[in-house]
Amino acid sequence: MMLLSIFLVGAVAAKNCQAKKDFDNLVTFGDSYTDNGRLNYYSNHDGQGPPPGVYQDVQNVTASGGRTWPQYVQDLTGATLRDYAVSGATCSNLIVDREAAWIHRDFPSVLEDEIPGFKADVAFKTLYPNRTAKNTVYALWIGTNDVGYGGFLSDSEAPGSTLTTYVDCVWTVFDNIYQTGGRRFVLLNLAPLDLSPLYSPQSEGGIGDSQYWGNKTAYNETEYQQKMKQYTTTLNTVFDYGVPFQTTVKNRWPQASVTIFNVHQLLTDIHNNPGKYLAAPASTSYYHQVNPVTGASSNLPGSLDQYMWYDELHPSNKTDSVIAKEFVDVVAGTSPYATQYGAKNF
Ligand SMILES: *[C@@H]1O[C@H](CO)[C@@H](O)[C@H](O)[C@H]1NC(C)=O
Ligand SMILES: *[C@@H]1O[C@H](CO)[C@@H](O)[C@H](O)[C@H]1NC(C)=O
Ligand SMILES: *[C@@H]1O[C@H](CO)[C@@H](O)[C@H](O)[C@H]1NC(C)=O
Ligand SMILES: *[C@@H]1O[C@H](CO)[C@@H](O)[C@H](O)[C@H]1NC(C)=O
Ligand SMILES: *[C@@H]1O[C@H](CO)[C@@H](O)[C@H](O)[C@H]1NC(C)=O
Repeated sequence: MMLLSIFLVGAVAAKNCQAKKDFDNLVTFGDSYTDNGRLNYYSNHDGQGPPPGVYQDVQNVTASGGRTWPQYVQDLTGATLRDYAVSGATCSNLIVDREAAWIHRDFPSVLEDEIPGFKADVAFKTLYPNRTAKNTVYALWIGTNDVGYGGFLSDSEAPGSTLTTYVDCVWTVFDNIYQTGGRRFVLLNLAPLDLSPLYSPQSEGGIGDSQYWGNKTAYNETEYQQKMKQYTTTLNTVFDYGVPFQTTVKNRWPQASVTIFNVHQLLTDIHNNPGKYLAAPASTSYYHQVNPVTGASSNLPGSLDQYMWYDELHPSNKTDSVIAKEFVDVVAGTSPYATQYGAKNF
């Protein structure tokens, strides 16, 4: 018994050490939680994304108030980041279509814009000089805009669309990456949006009318927080059952591995014990506020590193750095927040 545990500890440590360097490329898809500057490219080019082989100018100040989580993963691992995430994105504009008036179009979405952009780059090759099944990890974190105000929460989905249609979209994203030879997938599940200042009632420290929900106070804030909790927790349960079903029962992506990163639990843990993760004095509130009427912005006292949220919807860069650290362990197979299905050879 004792010998066995020593052996296990040794095996885990060895695996961890090697796994930190075991991917050369990280390819990410998603929304503002992940975007390192891609929406800016669309904004500066009248709604057009980068042509094949061109990468957006990388920003160090993003929706997190600093860098985003994949940029911290890049620091920790030395991997090359290819980020296709676009702020404001949903999984598919055929399900939830949100207007981006200043670029005269809707927000680019994962299925209709990010995936085609990625495929075009793969075909063009310059951004992927040495992409293999083994050396490249693909991460998808999408859903915040799909389920949020402007999406399912305000009944703004396209007629006939359901939460199930959204889940099917997530599988379709993996189908598309798989077709290009991708084999190592990480699905970040939905954040605990009911705990975010945007969707928490003011009685629990949430924000009132804000830049992302101009008339929140016209609603029963407690009811809408509960709806958000229903959507996010139910969808995460669907992912928990759906990934092993698609992977193992249906063999939808042969030889691929799909790992669920339970970022919902990680963010909940930060919310419940902020002092363990954030700079002192730690706060579960938000640092940056924009007046929805005047557009004037202000910051709360102290440093951003003390805050869990940058603004009412976006995790701070400090929180993103915690997500990144865990992500490295998720890929290495050593994180308590990870569940891996499918091929075990990665
Ligand atoms: C972002 O930070 C990196 C690393 O500190 C630096 O090399 C780069 O020039 C910065 N980019 C911008 C646009 O400030
Ligand atoms: C977050 O961003 C702020 C402002 O850009 C910076 O001062 C701080 O060091 C960053 N925190 C981390 C953990 O990178
Ligand atoms: C891929 O390219 C990167 C950056 O040049 C390099 O560090 C890495 O070792 C290469 N990997 C393979 C498998 O050739
Ligand atoms: C909130 O504003 C939106 C957009 O203007 C409007 O469609 C909706 O009816 C408003 N909700 C309430 C409860 O007043
Ligand atoms: C808001 O909804 C909650 C939960 O359904 C309910 O208990 C409360 O009475 C409602 N508040 C108002 C002002 O209607």
